[in-house]
Amino acid sequence: MAKLGHDVVAVDVDPAKIEQLAAGEAPFFEPGLPEVLGEALASGRIRFTTEMADVAGSQVHFLAVGTPQGPTGAADLRYVDAAMAALTPYVSAGEFVVGKSTVPVGTAARLGADLSAAVPGATLVWNPEFLREGFAVQDTISPDRFVYGVPEGADGERAVATLDEVYATALADGTPRLVMDLPTAELVKISANAFLATKISFINAMAEIAEVVGADVTALADAIGHDARIGRKFLNAGLGFGGGCLPKDIRAFQARADELGVGESLAFLADVDATNLRRRAHVVELAEELLGGVLAGKRVAVLGLAFKPNSDDVRDSPALDIAARLHELGATVAAYDPEAVVTARRLHPELEYAETAEEALTGADLVLVLTEWDEFRRLDPGAVASLVASPVVVDGRNCLDRDAWRAAGFTHRGMGR
Ligand SMILES: NC(=O)c1ccc[n+]([C@@H]2O[C@H](COP(=O)([O-])OP(=O)(O)OC[C@H]3O[C@@H](n4cnc5c(N)ncnc54)[C@H](O)[C@@H]3O)[C@@H](O)[C@H]2O)c1
Repeated sequence: MAKLGHDVVAVDVDPAKIEQLAAGEAPFFEPGLPEVLGEALASGRIRFTTEMADVAGSQVHFLAVGTPQGPTGAADLRYVDAAMAALTPYVSAGEFVVGKSTVPVGTAARLGADLSAAVPGATLVWNPEFLREGFAVQDTISPDRFVYGVPEGADGERAVATLDEVYATALADGTPRLVMDLPTAELVKISANAFLATKISFINAMAEIAEVVGADVTALADAIGHDARIGRKFLNAGLGFGGGCLPKDIRAFQARADELGVGESLAFLADVDATNLRRRAHVVELAEELLGGVLAGKRVAVLGLAFKPNSDDVRDSPALDIAARLHELGATVAAYDPEAVVTARRLHPELEYAETAEEALTGADLVLVLTEWDEFRRLDPGAVASLVASPVVVDGRNCLDRDAWRAAGFTHRGMGR
């Protein structure tokens, strides 16, 4: 927002994050973020604070707090509710609160009614966020589309005009902007994630079939992906999805559908989730098989811990999950990730973490590549062969050059190939 020319007050309840940000340090790994942050601070257009009172006088108040999975699978809205309660006293008539968090359908109407009751003339709108971790800066500056969920009438029209000013740069570049009612805007976000999760589990289900019949799911994906109605994106078989969004979003969506009495409509998402989780179990079983049925006393090099490359996010990461399970089963796990060692160590201090891929690989009885970082794609299999105790590799993301690894003497096992 500051890069786009707006004056920004950024509030978080976590003082450590605010301190880091104010010092120009990004609190997580995201390509391009340190540069944008430095630029914004130098421009004097952004300040970081834990004091909610500092937002008073802002025309637009974005709400982007977390909506993690609660104990029943439903979204836990306590952060959204707490942030709204803390913000409301500093909102004035004519101002807008703009929700960005991914919330259960119906949340915006509830929050909007509460806001209007507390501050007549203030308006709540929902503007779901579609950024992808690893591409967050690019996706924020030039997104695929904007979705504005607004109330009917004059307040809604003013909200559209105000958001158009906020996003003037991207709109001038032709970014599509879709205006709709509040529940539709909330549904757009959650249904987009449900679709993406379904697409990934679809190809992983094909991988399961391919493994049984000796087919190659990569060739299959290439072939069906040429059909423009299907498309090749999100058809890479592997360990499935993880992170802070897709897993919790499909569970929250099912929980909300159940509450609304239309649980059957989303019953398929339980299969999407189960197919996804089976991939992790499959790799653990494959590791056991390749190590002759015994994990105790074996050294396993795990390359990749983040839920996807170009991120240090290990929330619900398939890679970290597999590393932890192998450790539980008695293997000595030597794990390495270019960015996610610090975040992984916080969740699983019991694992052994290496500072380089070479260190993790040295003496390994089995190599698992679990996150498709470029660094791992570029590994020289001949050099790896000279480090490991036994040349066996599981390519959990189908990201390695299978022929090159086999030529270097490796037993190579991919996903669905
Ligand atoms: N991470 C993504 O790629 C992504 C993409 C699109 C949408 N979303 C959605 O955006 C939301 C945030 O996701 P995230 O990954 O950034 O979560 P996060 O947990 O990493 O960050 C949330 C932040 O909100 C702060 N916070 C909590 N309560 C607060 C309060 N009362 N006042 C001020 N700050 C408060 C937390 O300290 C934390 O820094 C979620 O609803 C998520 O589903 C995330």
